[in-house]
Amino acid sequence: STDSTQKWGKDVVFTIEDGIAWIKLNRPEKRNAINPGIVFEMNAVLDELEMNDACQVVVISGNGDTFSAGQDLKEYFREPASWHPVERERMMKANAAWQWRRLMYYPKPTIAMVNGWCFGGAFQVLLGCDLAIADVDARFGLSEINWGIIPAGIVTKSVAMALTQRKALYYIMTGENFDGREAENIGLVNFAVPADQLVERTKKLAAVLMEKNPHVLRACKVGYHYVRDMQWDMAAEYLSAKSDQAKFLDPEKGAAKGMSQFIDEKSYRPGLGAYDR
Ligand code: ACO
Repeated sequence: STDSTQKWGKDVVFTIEDGIAWIKLNRPEKRNAINPGIVFEMNAVLDELEMNDACQVVVISGNGDTFSAGQDLKEYFREPASWHPVERERMMKANAAWQWRRLMYYPKPTIAMVNGWCFGGAFQVLLGCDLAIADVDARFGLSEINWGIIPAGIVTKSVAMALTQRKALYYIMTGENFDGREAENIGLVNFAVPADQLVERTKKLAAVLMEKNPHVLRACKVGYHYVRDMQWDMAAEYLSAKSDQAKFLDPEKGAAKGMSQFIDEKSYRPGLGAYDR
């Protein structure tokens, strides 16, 4: 796909290079705390990138030395408390939209690249992404307890889905910081790497994803999220229908190609890599 370079907005910026859209939260002076500006801009950026063919994989990180210090205590919590309740509700719904449903069901693969501090609401961004890579020295914390709130939005639910009960309750109840290595060990991120390898490792992972059939990748992740909350029989029925749908709608008819390249042409082995698209 073509390369292009773009910039967007004030509190969120992105560039597209070699198929990867590098989205950065852009309030480094406020440690990329998530304010209404980031909320509305992220929704707009995600709208734009899902239609942009130059973008095959989305990477979210933060400008400066921070992934994100979570929700902005002043601009997201304190100031909106005096807004019209409907306006406040609208802003919070827009936040849930991008951090939760938009990312979870985003039609393109998403990678969180945790390049520094990651607190509170930033866990939702992290867990909203399909995959995650952290700087070993990144610092994580469910710091809500430290200022007297629970990890709300949908953070507690996401953490409960991602971590064991022991780890989830430990970090929810102590607010203790942990590093990228621990994040990898507890399964919060896929890999932790030294800071100077963060971008290269992320590119390598994105390259693997870009070799795959994008239509099927999309069905894989959407299917995964839906079946987690389904009963077994419903899940089997749904997956069967989803599988037919994915094959039916796939413009590159990948399943037929993959099967033929293996069985007839003997040109590749599905156990060892993707078919030639
Ligand atoms: N909300 C609002 N402002 C913030 C936030 C935040 N979450 N995080 C940082 N800032 C602001 C600071 O108020 C400060 O602003 P100022 O320069 O106008 O005074 C600026 O960003 C820099 O912050 P410092 O604290 O000076 O930066 P430092 O590098 O020393 O520390 C750290 C970084 C550890 C991230 C610290 O800022 C912090 O603890 N932030 C809050 C983290 C947090 O608990 N987030 C979870 C919120 S709960 C939720 O998300 C639901």
